[in-house]
Amino acid sequence: MKIFSEKHQITQAIDALKAEKLTLGLVPTMGALHDGHLALVKQALANNDKVAVSIFVNPTQFDNADDLVKYPRTFEQDIELLKTISETDILVYAPTIDDVYEGNTVSEKFEFDGLEFEMEGKFRQGHFDGVGTIVKRLFEIIKPDNAYFGEKDFQQLQIIKKLVEKYNMPLNIIGCPIHREASGLAMSSRNTRLKSAYKNAAPFIYKTLKTAKLHFGTKSAAKVSQWVEKQFEAHDLLRLEYFIIAEESTLKTVKRKTNNTKYRAFIAVYADDIRLIDNIALN
Ligand code: PAJ
Repeated sequence: MKIFSEKHQITQAIDALKAEKLTLGLVPTMGALHDGHLALVKQALANNDKVAVSIFVNPTQFDNADDLVKYPRTFEQDIELLKTISETDILVYAPTIDDVYEGNTVSEKFEFDGLEFEMEGKFRQGHFDGVGTIVKRLFEIIKPDNAYFGEKDFQQLQIIKKLVEKYNMPLNIIGCPIHREASGLAMSSRNTRLKSAYKNAAPFIYKTLKTAKLHFGTKSAAKVSQWVEKQFEAHDLLRLEYFIIAEESTLKTVKRKTNNTKYRAFIAVYADDIRLIDNIALN
């Protein structure tokens, strides 16, 4: 497995692949890899000759300094996990902050047609400018034919599709389903930080989403939201930050249901000081 920490090295390797007319997939990550990440890598390998996996904890997308410091970093283990998938067809790009940002860690400012003002954009100031800045830079460095993102971060996926459309970037964005623990908890690098009581409590999030989906069949979005809020008010360990039922394409909160519109429920919950997000398709 080739591991690159400098962009001039990886661009050389990529130029050589392109000269051979090989196709290239990209899976951007912040490391602390789990089966959700690995599923993206496997999907990318199924569709492309070679796959670049970036491992970079991107400081510009963190609105909380403590979260950035405590973000799990497990580089050696990440490499071992990637080797179990392929020793030959994966290139890892694990840059330093300086290599990617060249001394300028101020995010670009983006407009994503309003997608950036909803949910995570509201609760995490500057988050999507940071995500847009790093992902655009990765696309420019790696020049993939296809890039893979998880529906776990559904708003991020929609925003990246918008980024590519707005900047006319020559690649496809492929969304991949959410991977869950056996308990139903959506896999996340942050799960490793959960103390056992919170780890045991956290599957309540997906359980509530599934019941909310059932209620959405017969109740209004407002009624379902009230029901969810009540479930969390009664919970000792989990604190609801938001529960929102939104249209998939605009991410605008649903006022009144209409036929032929796709809806999804989105949730953010604090378990202790750890923020967990999840979502579910409603129809
Ligand atoms: P990270 O949280 O490491 O996630 C990397 C990719 O894995 C994202 O596309 C994310 O949606 C996907 N992913 C995470 N957990 C998943 C799960 N349980 N099931 C399916 N996919 C999952 O998202 C980021 O990093 C960063 O914002 C990044 C795009 C790398 C930019 O810094």
